[in-house]
This record gives sequence, structure tokens and C-alpha cells, in this order.
Amino acid sequence: MATKLSLTFRFPVEKSPKPRKSKPAVPQLNCCNGYGFSKNNSGFRGQLSMKVNAVQDEAIQSSNSETTLLSQTIPPSSSKLVLVVGATGGVGQLVVASLLNRNIKSRLLLRDPEKAISLFGNQDEEKLQVVKGDTRNPADLYPSIFEGVTHVICCTGTTAFPSKRWDGDNTPERVDWEGVRNLVSALPSSLKRVVLVSSVGVTKFNELPWSIMNLFGVLKYKKKGEDFLCESGLPFTIIRAGRLTDGPYTSYDLNTLLKATAGQRRAVVIGQGDNLVGEVSRLVVAEACIQAMDIEFTEGKIYEINSVEGEGPGTDPEKWEELFKTARA
Ligand SMILES: NC(=O)c1ccc[n+]([C@@H]2O[C@H](COP(=O)([O-])OP(=O)(O)OC[C@H]3O[C@@H](n4cnc5c(N)ncnc54)[C@H](OP(=O)(O)O)[C@@H]3O)[C@@H](O)[C@H]2O)c1
Repeated sequence: MATKLSLTFRFPVEKSPKPRKSKPAVPQLNCCNGYGFSKNNSGFRGQLSMKVNAVQDEAIQSSNSETTLLSQTIPPSSSKLVLVVGATGGVGQLVVASLLNRNIKSRLLLRDPEKAISLFGNQDEEKLQVVKGDTRNPADLYPSIFEGVTHVICCTGTTAFPSKRWDGDNTPERVDWEGVRNLVSALPSSLKRVVLVSSVGVTKFNELPWSIMNLFGVLKYKKKGEDFLCESGLPFTIIRAGRLTDGPYTSYDLNTLLKATAGQRRAVVIGQGDNLVGEVSRLVVAEACIQAMDIEFTEGKIYEINSVEGEGPGTDPEKWEELFKTARA
């Protein structure tokens, strides 16, 4: 399977730095009940959408000292509307599950909206909307898709090496460069933040060992996508992930997604300057994207992210702010 190719490629991994001290245990995403699977054809602007199901506000005590979302009260609905692009992917699924759990409205731009039903179930249209679109096709990115959107998280991607996922010319050049360029070009200037998931090593794609990863251009094209966003005038944050671990949770459902954990790899290391080498849990990348949207000083910045064994920031905004603040050059 295509994903295997990208996952089996060994990103260079350096010995993990010692986890930061005094971090509380990471919240493990856990599930609230109340999601069903049914389809409603009423649609968002003629596209597929999902029907309403209320999220039950359930307070369940964690059985250990770790904070879990099960023990948290669902916050009141946020004024954000987050457009998630690449929502069916490993990181994207976790971003959506986490937004749902936080009661933050999202709109998903997907090539295959049916996938959203099996992943996220039956949702309130006010809370989760789905629009069909392929980022390679500028005509799919029509203005009403962005109406009301306050933030964008883009985690699209394909495999670094030829695979079935390149079928129909869905190559790194088309997705990581042209797709990102098309999306960025279509975004309204009123956005509060655009978060793009990229990769460590993009500035060194000509150097070993990155040049191996870049044999088919994935790092070069991701860098072109990054540069286009940086020069767009939009308020951006770029999160460059190390080699992704945990998941992708493809074909899982929301209940399963919300139970995803970063395992032992909960401590977070954030760098700047593309010097970080290592691995990162997809759950940590998803959380970093969500946190960055709200941290003012991350606007206009590029960060690299790894996760290592140890206790982490979980979903605590203050701890994330501190991590971004002390990002190591
Ligand atoms: N694998 C690694 O070790 C690694 C390391 C560093 C950075 N990254 C990057 O991190 C990001 C997230 O990775 P991931 O493994 O979570 O991603 P993933 O599972 O490969 O998911 C990619 C997502 O992009 C969507 N997509 C692909 N082509 C598209 C197109 N033409 N139009 C619209 N959507 C399209 C896919 O939708 P469909 O369901 O329609 O295919 C899917 O939702 C990616 O940018 C990846 O390159 C990966």
C-alpha cells in the first residue's frame, strides 16, 4: 500500500534529546459518545454534508493521573470555522477528531466525501461540513468553500516514492507544490491563520540523506509549497514534521480516532532552522496545528517538530505556548 512506502522510508533519526522535565502527562484523546453513522443528502452548497447528532457532554474520571478528554467538559461552541484540507489522511483525521471533541466547527475539503462518513460519522452540519475538491484543480476551489472560514489546516500529501497513491498523476509535484499553490491562491485574505504541515529536511533536499528521500522531489516540492505560502501575505504557520509514527488510522472511525494516543512518545521537541531530525507522533502534529492557530507569535513562523518518550504538553495551551516560545534553533 502506498502509505507503507512513505512509512517504511527511514527518515534520519538522531538520538532523542532528553524529554523536557516537569511536563504533565499528555492527554490521551478519548471519545465522547453520541456519534452515529447516517447520511443526509441535504448537502452544504450542493455538496455532501452530514446530519446532526449532538455530542454528549460526558464527564468520566480518568483511571490514572493522566488527563484525558473523557474527563473534560466539552467547551462551548467556538467562533472558529476551520477548513481542514487532507482530512482523510493520518494527521488530518486526528485534526478533525480533535476539533470535534473541542466543539470547534470544521469544514473538510475532500476528494471523496464518502470517506468522511465512515471516519467521522453522523455530525451536526453546523459542526462539520464536507465539500468535494481536489487541490490540483483550481476550479474545485471556488470562493464559497471559504465563506466564513477563519482558519485553515492543510495536511495534504502523497507518498514520496511512486505508489498506487500516485494514480491519476497525484504526485508530490502535483499535490505538495501545485495543490498547495492552488489552495493558497484561492484563500481569502480575511483568514486568521493558515497552518501547513510540511516536512523536516525541505531546505536540504540536495544533501544526503535527504536527497534519497527527495529522489522523486517530495522535499523540493514541499519547499516550493512552503515558499508560496510564505510569500502569499496570508498569516501562516508551517509545521515541519519528522518521520511520522502512530497511524495513519485509515479506515478507523471517530471512536477509534479519539482513543488514539501517542503511546510513550508524548514529550514534544520543537525546533527552528530545519536542524531537527527524528520522529513525531501524528497525534502530536495534529495537536501542534490546533494549538498554533491560537498562539499569536507563531504567525509567520516555521517550526520543526519531533516527539520523544516522556510526559508531554497534552492539550494544555500554556505548555504549547512555552514549547513554541523556546523552540531550539
Ligand atoms: N510519512 C512521513 O513520515 C512524513 C514525514 C514528514 C511529513 N509528512 C507530511 O505530513 C503530512 C501528513 O502526513 P499523513 O501521513 O498524515 O498524510 P496522508 O495519510 O498521506 O494523507 C494525505 C491526505 O492528503 C489528501 N490528498 C492527497 N492528494 C490530494 C489532492 N490532490 N487533493 C486533495 N487532497 C489530497 C489525501 O486524501 P485522499 O484520501 O483523497 O487520498 C489525504 O487526506 C503530509 O504532507 C506528509 O507528506 C509525512
